[in-house]
Amino acid sequence: MQLEQLIRERRSIRKYNNLPVSQDLIIKLLQQAERLCSYDGEARWRYVYVGTPEARERLADYMVEKLQDNKIVKLVLSKVTDALHKRVLEVPASLIVIAKTDSNPIIHDQTYGAVCRIMQNLQLLGWEERIGMVWITDPMIQNERFYKRIGLQEGERFVGIVQMGYFDKAPKGRSRTPAERNWTEFVWNER
Ligand SMILES: Cc1cc2nc3c(=O)[nH]c(=O)nc-3n(C[C@H](O)[C@H](O)[C@H](O)COP(=O)(O)O)c2cc1C
Repeated sequence: MQLEQLIRERRSIRKYNNLPVSQDLIIKLLQQAERLCSYDGEARWRYVYVGTPEARERLADYMVEKLQDNKIVKLVLSKVTDALHKRVLEVPASLIVIAKTDSNPIIHDQTYGAVCRIMQNLQLLGWEERIGMVWITDPMIQNERFYKRIGLQEGERFVGIVQMGYFDKAPKGRSRTPAERNWTEFVWNER
């Protein structure tokens, strides 16, 4: 597929079919994604793969745990939480993405920027294999207990979870904001 068409047509996919996604294929795509991202020095990030039925079950538990803290949600919205749990459980494979932090803000941002590029590359490469993905950073998973559950260490930051699976139907494309709408020209007045 042409690069421009690939970038234009890729969508975030949130509904997958039952086909398993091989761990080897994910590693291969990640290696490709990393090769396409120029970055000086050693990798300052890591990935945690969640693909076995047991691991998927645990991750689904952890992801909804925060919602269940809320007594009202627990009582009144238990159906919603259950549905969410089921939805997470149905995701064939998830990749928890973790980056190192740094006291130097430039290195800190460069690391995060590199990981973002790798994730975008991964989503594009997956699309060519008909593996759909969505990058999740939902507020319900942004809390210390969840970070502890997934094994986040001191000096690390949670980047997100990339959920993935083969899909049958791609959603319709959304219109993009034209670049010129966010465009101004820097002018200054000499006094
Ligand atoms: C950093 C980041 C965080 C995101 N977090 C979420 C999320 O928590 N839940 C979700 O449904 N989508 C999430 N997304 C996916 C975006 O919502 C999605 O990319 C956006 O709707 C554009 O759609 P597209 O990927 O189909 O172009 C995230 C994307 C990025 C880049």
